[in-house]
Amino acid sequence: MKVIAKERIAENLTKLVIESPLIAKKALPGQFVVLMAAKVGERVPLTIVDADRQKQTITIIFQEVGYTTRLLGTLKPNDSLYSLVGPLGKPTPIKNYGRVIVLGGGVGIAELLPLVRALKGAGCTITSILGGRTAELVILRDQVKEFSDDMYITTDDGSLGEKGVVTDPLKRLLDESSDYGLVFCVGPVPMMKAVSEVTRLFKIKIVVCLNPIMVDGTGMCGCCRVTVGGETKFTCVDGPDFDGYEVDFDELMARQKRFVQHEKQAMCKLDKQINNEASWERNDDG
Ligand code: FAD
Ligand code: FES
Ligand code: MG
Repeated sequence: MKVIAKERIAENLTKLVIESPLIAKKALPGQFVVLMAAKVGERVPLTIVDADRQKQTITIIFQEVGYTTRLLGTLKPNDSLYSLVGPLGKPTPIKNYGRVIVLGGGVGIAELLPLVRALKGAGCTITSILGGRTAELVILRDQVKEFSDDMYITTDDGSLGEKGVVTDPLKRLLDESSDYGLVFCVGPVPMMKAVSEVTRLFKIKIVVCLNPIMVDGTGMCGCCRVTVGGETKFTCVDGPDFDGYEVDFDELMARQKRFVQHEKQAMCKLDKQINNEASWERNDDG
């Protein structure tokens, strides 16, 4: 569980290569790990972006959005994670679906990357659509582009690509041709809901990768439960991929907001801690 390498890909976006022979040996596209950055803290799920069986390492890429991801971003090579469990979740079935549209938004783009690479490797023709509120939030675009035949970018404020939302190019593409074997979407819940509604109009199969709050990641705590086709499913063991037509997105949105207050308090605490450490360092210097 030692950090082997660290790269700052962009502001608030970090890549860690972690030593983990057993996870590297078994990981497949679409699977994730649940980790703890430190002994006192919470467990968070992160997608396995790459697994190198020879080097016995896995790669994670995360956006520093709150307490734990910021803490994780302070780790350096040779530091160790407190705990790491995986590979978890069902792998995404990879085969040649023909023409595929993949859509990603926010931290979902990190989750999309291993999938785009695997689908390209299976011979699919890939059109990717990435979206965010502003240009900075459309992460990993060069990396996704490398495996895409065609790419569209949308931002709410028009700072990159076309001004609008990902469903704008999606509607245009589906209007031009409905010859797509699959649409895959991962991102904020309102985005996955909107994309599923558009694909329903064109009767095209859509798979969404859900991101509820997870704790154990092994089907024990029930925290990640979602309603799919009227049945309760545990995203960590039954997913994270589900048929977008069947998901109760409104329930998922409501459940995701449960800890917002706690998340804000944890961030304030970390900011104070970091500021205090910085002022100690300044005092030491002079
Ligand atoms: P907080 O301030 O605590 O939370 C910020 C937001 O993150 C919350 O509002 C909530 O929506 C979400 N979140 C918080 N805690 C959890 C939790 N325990 N489980 C799930 N979501 C949580 N992010 C990446 O940047 N890269 C990835 O590859 C990636 N893969 C993921 C794969 C899966 C299967 C899931 C479910 C999520 C993935 N995420 C990924 C999202 C990542 O888990 C959250 O950004 C992270 O947990 C935020 O924690 P925090 O303490 O830094 O922020
Ligand atoms: Fe506990 Fe899925 S995270 S059951
Ligand atoms: Mg947190």
